[in-house]
Amino acid sequence: MTTTGTDQELTPDRIMEVGMGFWPAKVLLTAVKLGLFGELAAGPRPAAGIAEALGLQQRGLYDFLDALVALGFVEREGIGEAARYRNAPEADRFLDPAKPTYVGAALEMANDRMYPFWGDLENALETGEPQNEIKHQGRDVFEKLYEDPARLEQFANAMGSAQMGAFQALAGSFDFSRYSTLCDLGGARGDLSICVAREHEHLQCVSVDLPAVEPLARQRIRQAGLEHRVEARSLDFWEDPIPRADVITMGHILHDWGTEEKKRLIGRSFHSLNEGGALVAVESVIDDQRRENAFGLLMSLNMLIETPGGANFTGEDFAGWTAEAGFRDSEVFPLSGPMSAAVAYK
Ligand SMILES: C[S@@+](CC[C@H](N)C(=O)[O-])C[C@H]1O[C@@H](n2cnc3c(N)ncnc32)[C@H](O)[C@@H]1O
Repeated sequence: MTTTGTDQELTPDRIMEVGMGFWPAKVLLTAVKLGLFGELAAGPRPAAGIAEALGLQQRGLYDFLDALVALGFVEREGIGEAARYRNAPEADRFLDPAKPTYVGAALEMANDRMYPFWGDLENALETGEPQNEIKHQGRDVFEKLYEDPARLEQFANAMGSAQMGAFQALAGSFDFSRYSTLCDLGGARGDLSICVAREHEHLQCVSVDLPAVEPLARQRIRQAGLEHRVEARSLDFWEDPIPRADVITMGHILHDWGTEEKKRLIGRSFHSLNEGGALVAVESVIDDQRRENAFGLLMSLNMLIETPGGANFTGEDFAGWTAEAGFRDSEVFPLSGPMSAAVAYK
């Protein structure tokens, strides 16, 4: 058999890197879970001091810390017992729980919930059934999640911290000057409304979600000093009237539901939007050819694991559903990373 030039250039490196990708992921998630980055935010520490503070054994300690050095999340001066470890700049800004820029809440949830549930991806693909807390239960995922106040808080914090970049990009790039009222459906802690209200002082916002979430949103809005322009309201978006507004936003709502439910929620939003208003869905929108936005496709698989019918969607899907509901036009524009805003105009 002859070997072509192309064959010689092929290596299994990328296959092995992706296939073993759970190793570095779990090392980072564990460091977040153990509180390593908060500990190191105080300044350089020797391994023995870190072990004592986090309750770790000697065995594995240096491999764990030095793996984080090799992955670029921790920096080190010296080696072995003489070494001093400190946060790398990125970790210091985004993984120290004491800083408002903390994004680790999303990783805490990834560690505690998603990581074990993704172990059952095969089963999800074979059965088409969720693999999380509602496995074999046929229950509403949010109802089940919110039974436990700690899980509710972890989930809401995870959502908020993971989406902050996208919400800020939306506040900075969408033309809100034409509108005066905004209703955020499934607004969780109110982060989208808070981000947009901070940037656009003329806007009046209402963040609506299930009753269990309202106290968390009220607290966050109060901390932001925005009670006069952002209201937290309890509402079931399947049953209750959606408040009238010029802009209705939905962050990661449509991907939680199957196609018929998506269409129903888009239709309900259309009826509650004022004339000339806009529906804005913040999601990891998949490119129309379904080849490029790997994160959006993986998020869609996450919806297979987490929900009975949810899936992410393309701009073309969104254009079809919104046209069917009566919207005159739609577009997708990029926000941050793999996140986009799918916008439909009434
Ligand atoms: C995936 S989270 C998204 C949270 C937030 N919008 C974001 O982008 O991070 C979905 C949200 O929808 C809310 N939700 C689910 N069912 C709902 C319903 N029937 N009525 C109102 N809110 C609901 C959940 O409580 C949760 O906060």
